[in-house]
Amino acid sequence: MDFSYFDRAAGYLPDVCFERRPDLGIMLGSGWGDALKADAAILSISYSDIPGFGASTVAGHAGEFRLFQLHGKIVAAWCGRRHYYEGVGWEPVVLPVEMLRRMGCEKILLTNAAGGIDPGLRPGDFVVIRDHVNLLGLGPLIGPAREEWGPRFPDMTAIYTKHLAELLHAAANRLGIRAKDGVYAFNAGPCYETPAEIRAYAALGASVVGMSTVPEAVFAKACGMKVAGVSLVSNLAAGIAGGSLSHEEVVAAGTEAKLRMAALIGDFVDRL
Ligand code: HPA
Repeated sequence: MDFSYFDRAAGYLPDVCFERRPDLGIMLGSGWGDALKADAAILSISYSDIPGFGASTVAGHAGEFRLFQLHGKIVAAWCGRRHYYEGVGWEPVVLPVEMLRRMGCEKILLTNAAGGIDPGLRPGDFVVIRDHVNLLGLGPLIGPAREEWGPRFPDMTAIYTKHLAELLHAAANRLGIRAKDGVYAFNAGPCYETPAEIRAYAALGASVVGMSTVPEAVFAKACGMKVAGVSLVSNLAAGIAGGSLSHEEVVAAGTEAKLRMAALIGDFVDRL
């Protein structure tokens, strides 16, 4: 991990980002980009202007850092994420979390689109992440230890804070949105899984599968942050419905769920 990478990025962000501790950091993943209204932002910064960070290479990812004041709370939102499969290392994957840590942010909500493995899930459902399986066995903490990133061997017994998961459910309940608990399996991608892999992940206890979130969750937890995670089930995982999978389907599911995503995040922030 190149530590100076983070100093350069932090040096670019205006002082206002570090003046008031955000009450919540949010990572908006595939399809979630419009869940917070861009025109309500107090500040917007394009990823491509942040030194070393670069624009998201994924269609449907906005690529802007935005600060909001929402329900009297400061929300720092990363609209679009960089993924490990982009092949440029862990730095851009965890940069948003590291910037939030430097802003003094103590809570983070990670969102994503995922394939549904649990037979009870339908596209358009939400899954509150309670735990995860890192199918890579690799992550952003490999490398020299750094004191501010927590202990050398961080505990991962309860990555996803129970209280925050309960707030997500309370928000979904009030809004009449279908949300189940689940375990998120992280596959590097960029290829989707095979049906045999999905059967194996089901046997491992996975409810949904996706190509993100786990590196950020592990990093944030190691740094002492409270972590919440929510998936939009954009499709049924490979082999479950029988058809083939496409990114267009994932983006379309996000568009269909746009109003529910915005309502869920708004209500969740209000409850913090
Ligand atoms: N697999 C992996 N990642 C995904 C999927 C999937 O089925 N859907 C959305 N992201």
